[in-house]
Amino acid sequence: MAEKSFKYVILGGGVSAGYAAREFAKQGVKPGELAIISKEVAPYERPALSKAYLFPEGTARLPGFHVCVGSGGERLLPEWYKEKGIELILSTEIVRADIASKTLLSATGLIFKYQILVIATGSTVLRLTDFGVEGADAKNIFYLREIDDADKLVEAIKAKKNGKAVVVGGGYIGLELSAALKINNIDVSMVYPEPWCMPRLFTADIAAFYEGYYANKGIKIIKGTVAVGFTTNADGEVKEVKLKDGRTLEADIVVVGVGGRPLISLFKGQVAENKGGIETDDFFKTSADDVYAVGDVATFPMKLYREMRRVEHVDHARKSAEQAVKTIMATEGGKTVTGYDYLPYFYSRAFDLSWQFYGDNVGDTVLFGDNDLASATHKFGTYWIKDGKVVGVFLESGTPEENKAIAKVARVQPSVESLDVLKNEGLSFASKI
Ligand code: FDA
Ligand code: NAD
Repeated sequence: MAEKSFKYVILGGGVSAGYAAREFAKQGVKPGELAIISKEVAPYERPALSKAYLFPEGTARLPGFHVCVGSGGERLLPEWYKEKGIELILSTEIVRADIASKTLLSATGLIFKYQILVIATGSTVLRLTDFGVEGADAKNIFYLREIDDADKLVEAIKAKKNGKAVVVGGGYIGLELSAALKINNIDVSMVYPEPWCMPRLFTADIAAFYEGYYANKGIKIIKGTVAVGFTTNADGEVKEVKLKDGRTLEADIVVVGVGGRPLISLFKGQVAENKGGIETDDFFKTSADDVYAVGDVATFPMKLYREMRRVEHVDHARKSAEQAVKTIMATEGGKTVTGYDYLPYFYSRAFDLSWQFYGDNVGDTVLFGDNDLASATHKFGTYWIKDGKVVGVFLESGTPEENKAIAKVARVQPSVESLDVLKNEGLSFASKI
């Protein structure tokens, strides 16, 4: 059986892997020491898949969005890895991992040995078939995680020109994909069980703005119910979505975004787990010697909130990867690095809207600014206040300076005398900090 051996192996070739490779190179990794093993193509900025990748104009395509362009860095094309002597082992799925013998086995029987392993396998989507929804394996029901998924969706958008789509789920995928489909002139209905969209972050007030905005764009929003079945035509293509409340929606395309789960099953029983992810310390070391976990799979100490958390966003994927590699290289040189001290940062873009959120969405909330749908600008936001301190800030349509200011507030956690102060001062409160 073919066997290859490396000093360092990154398992998974997504966002974290790309940023880890850049950091390895910065820290002077030698040719032949590092390999990335991935089912996909060379590491790219995954957020593009639910945005410009789907646009009819100004479309993003590889190699345009390989890492590290998403954070304003140099684009790492496959040639870059070659120049650095970093081996990209692509279109290769690892099906077994044995930490005791430091061995990975691929689906085609290749064996990879490592001295240090970085687990960067990311997440996979939850599927309606997992919940036994009738007819959920019909053609033209799509999920979006990898570039192949996006390509299939692009084909369907072309094939079903001016058709009807039902988007199942009101989270990140639901909101970004509904907008992308609408921009492609598809008639869109969104369906989700909660009383408002993006409930894991949005307050009812924030959600009301986006729901109104989407409705004005012609997107139909159906809340408080779920898809319980699908009917198909003679070709096995989806034709209708049956809802729990008895309604039926016509559909040429269905896009499902009902959440994800971290890909950690290869390591079950071999590393400690916590909150659905692989437990790490603030250097992203797991409970196993010489094994690190970064990005979506890591449950790490969030110092700021004195709590173990897992984060499924790109900013953390980038930063955790850099932290792990700095630690690996410093340890070899007998040096130390400071522990990870992460400030949560999430963002999304759809239509001409763009929001950012920093910090923690717990405690009381204060809405500020102009959330009038009829206004030309939509600069509004929300502060979250816990124990008299501002701990989280959301801002729609902020300038780079304003976004910097809200990030600072979330980090500094200034005290406030009363919620009225925040209501009256609005964004200028953040600008003063
Ligand atoms: P990531 O998923 O990027 O990479 C994991 C890689 O490992 C994949 O290439 C996978 O194929 C591979 N892999 C897994 N198991 C394997 C195995 N057994 N063998 C070989 N390879 C294997 N976040 C944000 O902050 N803003 C945003 O706008 C968006 N937008 C967005 C859009 C879409 C469509 C998705 C799916 C996700 C986002 N995100 C986001 C989330 C963000 O992209 C995500 O948190 C990071 O990509 C996580 O980086 P990782 O490196 O952990 O996993
Ligand atoms: P999510 O957790 O954001 O949203 C899941 C949504 O599914 C819930 O809000 C709920 O409305 C809905 N839901 C749950 N069960 C349902 C059911 N049976 N029927 C209908 N709706 C149901 O997850 P997602 O939108 O699928 O995103 C997947 C992953 O991709 C996440 O890790 C997310 O962070 C990432 N992502 C992030 C961004 C971003 O940060 N801008 C963009 C796209 C994707």
